[in-house]
Amino acid sequence: MKLTKDQQDLLDGKYGPGAQLAMKVQVAVGESFGAERMVPITRAHVALSNQDADLWLAEKMVDMGAKCRIAPTVNPGWCLPYFEAKGLVSEEDYKMMERTHNAYKKLGAVLSYNCTPYIDTNVPNFGEVVAYSESSATPYANAVWGARTNREGANSALFASITGYVPEYGLLFDENRKGTILVDVQADMDNDYCYHMLGMCGKKIGHGIPVFTGLPKHISPEAFRNLGAQLNTSGAYDMYHIVGVTPEAPDLETAFGGKEPERKVTITNEDFEEVLKEISLEGNREIDFVMFGCPHFTLNECKHIHERLQGRKLKKEMYILTSSHVKHMAELMGIDEELEGLGAHIIPSTCPDQPCWKFLKGKIGLTESPKCAYYPQRRGINFVIRDLDTCIEAAVTGEVK
Ligand code: F3S
Repeated sequence: MKLTKDQQDLLDGKYGPGAQLAMKVQVAVGESFGAERMVPITRAHVALSNQDADLWLAEKMVDMGAKCRIAPTVNPGWCLPYFEAKGLVSEEDYKMMERTHNAYKKLGAVLSYNCTPYIDTNVPNFGEVVAYSESSATPYANAVWGARTNREGANSALFASITGYVPEYGLLFDENRKGTILVDVQADMDNDYCYHMLGMCGKKIGHGIPVFTGLPKHISPEAFRNLGAQLNTSGAYDMYHIVGVTPEAPDLETAFGGKEPERKVTITNEDFEEVLKEISLEGNREIDFVMFGCPHFTLNECKHIHERLQGRKLKKEMYILTSSHVKHMAELMGIDEELEGLGAHIIPSTCPDQPCWKFLKGKIGLTESPKCAYYPQRRGINFVIRDLDTCIEAAVTGEVK
C-alpha cells in the first residue's frame, strides 16, 4: 500500500506505540481488501460495548499512549449515576462501566453514549469520508446522508479515530455503492414501526444493496433509523437506496448504476406478519414492563409518549432509552418530570444489552423494536413486539392485546 509521509510516520512509531499498532492493523485490513492507499476521515463513531474485549482493547490503547486525532462519539453502555442511585448494579458491573468510561475519556473520545449520532451529535455531510461502527449508524451515514463509510467494527473505528485514516476500499468507491436488489414494498408503511418490520425482512431480501421502491416520499429520521437498525438485526447491510428519497437514488437507473438488478423481491403485509410471528412472544398477555429506545429514542418520540399519556397513569413501568442531550431537553421542557410522575423513566446513555438490566431477568417486556427484543434474550428477558401506540396503551392497562 502506498503511504503518505504522515501515514508512514504513524506506522514507524513516530507518534508512539498505540498509534503504531492502530496503523499496523489498519494497513493489514487495507491489504486484505486490496486497498492501495489510506484516506483521511473527518468523523468517527465507536460502538463501544462495555464488554471484556472492548475494554481490553481500549485500556491497551491507553497504556500504549494512544490519543484520538478525530474524537469519535461513542455508543451507550449504561448510565452510572442513574443505576447506582437505584442500587440496581453490582460492584463488579459498576467497576467495569467506570473503567470503560475512564479508558475512552483518556483516549479523547466524545462521551456521548448514544447510538444515534447521525441524528443529533455527529452528522456527516454528503460525500464526507467517515469511520462509523454501530449497526444503524453505518447505513444511515451512507444511505441517508450520502457520506462514505465501510461497516467498521468498534475496534477498527477506534483505530481510525486514533490514526485519522481509513484504508480505501468497499463503499468508499462509487461503483460499490450501487444497488443490486430491487425491493418493491407493497406492505402498508403507515408509521415508523413499519420500518422496523421492513428492516426485519433481511432473510427474504438477501445479500446485496437493496433499492426500495413503493415507499412514501417523506420518511422520518426515526423511520430511517429503524430501517437501518433492523436490516442489521436480520442481516448485514451497510448501504441501501430509496428511489426518489435518498441522495444517491434520484431514479432507478442511477440507483442501479445503469445495470439490471440481480434480484427482485416483493415485500407485503403478509411478510411483516410472518416476521412478527417469528420474533415476538405471543400477545394477549400481561406484561411486566415496557421498553423503548433501541436505537435511542428522539425528543419527538419522548414528546409523543408524553402527549399520549396526558391524564393517565401507568400500570407497568416504562423505560425510555435516549441520549443525554434528549434527556436534558426533556428536563428543560418539563416532560421528564411529568413522565417520571406517571411511571415512565427517561434514561440516558443506556443500552438494553447491558448488565444494569439484571433485575428484569425472567420478566416479560413489551417493545416496538425487534433489536430491543433480540439482545436481552441472552440475559433471560423476553419481549412481545408491537407498534409504539399499542405499547403505550399496554403500559396503561398492563396487558397487550
Ligand atoms: Fe443502541 Fe444498544 Fe440498541 S447500542 S441500537 S440501544 S442494542
